Amino acid sequence: MAEFKEISPDAPLGQKALNWVDNRFPLSKLFNEHMAEYYAPKNFNWWYIFGSLALLVLVIQIVTGIFLVMHYKPDATTAFASVEYIMRDVPWGWLIRYMHSTGASAFFVVVYLHMYRGLIYGSYRKPRELVWVFGCAIFLVLMAEAFMGYLLPWGQMSYWGAQVIVNLFSAIPFVGPDLALLIRGDFVVGDATLNRFFSFHVIAVPLVLLGLVVAHIIALHEVGSNNPDGVEIKATKDDKGIPLDGIPFHPYYSVHDIFGVSLFLMVFSAIVFFAPEFGGYFLEYNNFIPADPLVTPLHIAPVWYFTPFYSMLRAITSEMMYALIACVLLGALLGVIKARLNMVMKGAVVGGAVVLVALMMAIDAKFWGVVAMGGAVVILFFLPWLDNSPVKSIRYRPSWNKWLYLVFVINFLILGYLGVQPPSPVGERVSQVGTLFYFGFFLLMPWWSRLGEFKPVPSRVTFHPH
Ligand code: HEM
Repeated sequence: MAEFKEISPDAPLGQKALNWVDNRFPLSKLFNEHMAEYYAPKNFNWWYIFGSLALLVLVIQIVTGIFLVMHYKPDATTAFASVEYIMRDVPWGWLIRYMHSTGASAFFVVVYLHMYRGLIYGSYRKPRELVWVFGCAIFLVLMAEAFMGYLLPWGQMSYWGAQVIVNLFSAIPFVGPDLALLIRGDFVVGDATLNRFFSFHVIAVPLVLLGLVVAHIIALHEVGSNNPDGVEIKATKDDKGIPLDGIPFHPYYSVHDIFGVSLFLMVFSAIVFFAPEFGGYFLEYNNFIPADPLVTPLHIAPVWYFTPFYSMLRAITSEMMYALIACVLLGALLGVIKARLNMVMKGAVVGGAVVLVALMMAIDAKFWGVVAMGGAVVILFFLPWLDNSPVKSIRYRPSWNKWLYLVFVINFLILGYLGVQPPSPVGERVSQVGTLFYFGFFLLMPWWSRLGEFKPVPSRVTFHPH
């Protein structure tokens, strides 16, 4: 137990109160460790505000969610009407509801930008692998949270979107149909599904999310933040052990983040007040029609933040399987010829490829579509071990890397756009190429990340006072 600290009886009341608490709970210690004496690199740029913004949106979602639950009814016969009641009759209900629905999209905008920052500055690399892995788990859980929340208004898109996605699970060999039944709690999406999704959406998943966010930040503060130069500031410290290129998070970055929060809130409010449906992207028009199990909408598409992955699902047709089989065979061939493997390992590569191709031919393309959709997220977890580049930040990588990362973004946006559109022959081809590019980017990273001419990394961060 820490020693009891005495304080002068003449000290101001505030100080006495703090001392009383500090003797019983490490309040000042926590504040110092994570704020006032957390030394962050002095060269952060605006990419670094998205972590705090994600925290802000998380709080907005939880607080507005609490108020929504006070009036929402998780029952298939009353759910839709209870949302209408919130919108029309509950005082400020429309604001709470629009903040929550806009918050869902804002969460993904912020998190995608936050992840992209990690990607370009190599923030996932040693010693921050766990920060990244926790981040990927957050992303996965966030997707589950958004998916289950979307069923709750019980509109046509809620209903049919859930129907399509839950049915995907039934494509898994052997266990699939039972698994889909378990998720739905019925043979079709119904009241049982709504009840369990509600329970997961309001308590189970948010608890996991909060736990993961805490783990994410503890892991980050254990190793310290990366920065746009990818230089480890802990490598050069003064005689007090403080990084020479570090500045205390509070007040420097607390103020920086408050500035970011103000800008964010301006954009957020503009959307909430003037365009909450956001052209049908944040709230789909079909979802203003109550769920009807007897009327299937002409075109079912998930909300925009899922559509890049939805495109990858739709890209895997039985024709596309031939291209994928060719990729597996080519990969195995290259592995045998190029990689420095002994005979046993080479045999394993060939054996593995043969088994995989046999499975690819035996199991329906729909299943492989589900694998591609899930794999597109799961592959992110492995990023720290796929990147072989001698430097972290894109600043010191070969110049063509910038183009490659730009193409990666454009490709992701195109996949997202195609996922919103009804299927078409051209769209299908483009999303097939896009899917191959997406996976190629990651799977070939061990190879391409080593290529080209790297620029010398400075020993200290680059910083221009402004
Ligand atoms: C609810 C969602 C999330 C919250 C609240 C959150 C919060 C934060 C905060 C506050 C920071 C420190 C400030 C900053 O560097 O921006 C941070 C850093 C970081 N986050 Fe997240 N994060 C979330 C999701 C993610 C996801 C999905 C990923 C990646 C898949 C991720 C990867 C990282 C990485 C690599 C860093 C260290 C960045 C660096 O030091 O350069 N985070 N996060």
